Amino acid sequence: MPSDIRIHDKIFTPYISHNEILEKVRFLAGKVLQDAGEETPVFIVVLKGSFMFASDFLKAFEKDAVIDFIRIKSYEGTTSTGKTEVLLDVTEKLQGKKVYILEDIVDTGNTLKIVLELVQKHQPGQLKIVSLFYKPEAYKYDYPIDFVGFEIPNRFIVGYGLDYNELGRNLKNIYQLKI
Ligand code: IMP
Ligand code: MG
Repeated sequence: MPSDIRIHDKIFTPYISHNEILEKVRFLAGKVLQDAGEETPVFIVVLKGSFMFASDFLKAFEKDAVIDFIRIKSYEGTTSTGKTEVLLDVTEKLQGKKVYILEDIVDTGNTLKIVLELVQKHQPGQLKIVSLFYKPEAYKYDYPIDFVGFEIPNRFIVGYGLDYNELGRNLKNIYQLKI
């Protein structure tokens, strides 16, 4: 197992290994493959954090899929500010399609709320959420998270796409803030 690391001013400790993540991501892809049935789904990757998850998930999704990207700016530091801004909008046609949002993490749900509002405007036939991580203690809304990889405690994590002030995204394992 790798050792503790420092990012900016904080120490993070190894939490979930790359192999465990990959196993979970492949499991999620299998579930969604079943759910999608015969239709060609559209996956909406929420940048930046979901890029690594989406890459492994979509490689494991061994059927036709349309892929789109959106980017919402949220968060600075390790606590949610609730402030969000749309930086990149949907470009693919979603009307009547089976649409899945690929999220790295759902924390308070503020970002998800904005994403859902944005995507709903395009009138998808079905809209579901796939999130690799979910912090139930922090979640403030009632939208169901249809597919969850790991339910985790309300403690900050980095790695596998997730950052702490823009560092840590390229770590292959997940690390948790040490307290
Ligand atoms: P929410 O809007 O509070 O749900 O936060 C969602 C966004 O905040 C995510 O897309 C991440 O970019 C970021 N975030 C939330 N929790 C964490 C964490 O534990 N580590 C890194 N980023 C996080
Ligand atoms: Mg971030």
